[in-house]
Amino acid sequence: MGRGTTKNIGLIGFMGTGKTTIGRALASLTGRKFFDTDTLVESAAGRTISQIFLEEGEESFRKLESRIVKEVCENDSAVISFGGGVVLSPSNVDMIRMNSIVILLKASVETIVKRTGSNSLRPLLNVAENDVETGIKSLLDSRRILYETAMDFAIETDALSTKNAVEEIIRRVVL
Ligand code: S3P
Repeated sequence: MGRGTTKNIGLIGFMGTGKTTIGRALASLTGRKFFDTDTLVESAAGRTISQIFLEEGEESFRKLESRIVKEVCENDSAVISFGGGVVLSPSNVDMIRMNSIVILLKASVETIVKRTGSNSLRPLLNVAENDVETGIKSLLDSRRILYETAMDFAIETDALSTKNAVEEIIRRVVL
C-alpha cells in the first residue's frame, strides 16, 4: 500500500464476518498499525464487553465505544476493525468516513452462526441456542441499510480464507 492512500482502512460489518482476523492480517502484511475498537473499549473500561453490558447496560457501552471511535479515527494509515454496532450511531459513521476507506465485510447468517458459535463473549448473541439464528437474522435486517450506506465497498467473506480476503482488499484499495 506504499504508494497508495494514507487514509485508514476501516472494517465494518456484523459480528463473525472476520473484521478482527482480516484486519490484523491486513495490517501485518502492509506494515500498518492495527486497532480493534472492542479491544480498546475493554482496555479503557478495564472490563470485558460482556461485563460492561451486564453491569452498566448497552447504552453505557455505546457511549464508551463512540469515544473510542473518535480517538481511533485520529490515526492515519492504520487498519481499524470496528465493533459490529458502530453503525448504529450516525456520528460514528461520519467520524469513520472522514479519514477511512470503509470496507464492509459480509457473511451469510449460516456462516455467522458457525463463526460466532455459542459465544458468551458477544452479549447480543447470548440467547438460548435455538434463538441464535433468529436473533442474528433480525439484527442483520435492522442494520443492513446502515452498513450499506456507511461503506465504500463490500467483500463477501463466506468462501474466502483470511489470506484471500486480505489480497482482495489490497487489490481493491491500491489502484
Ligand atoms: C456488537 C459487536 C461486537 C461488540 C459488542 C456489540 C454489535 O463486536 O462490539 O458485542 O452490536 O454488533 P464484533 O462485531 O467485533 O463482534
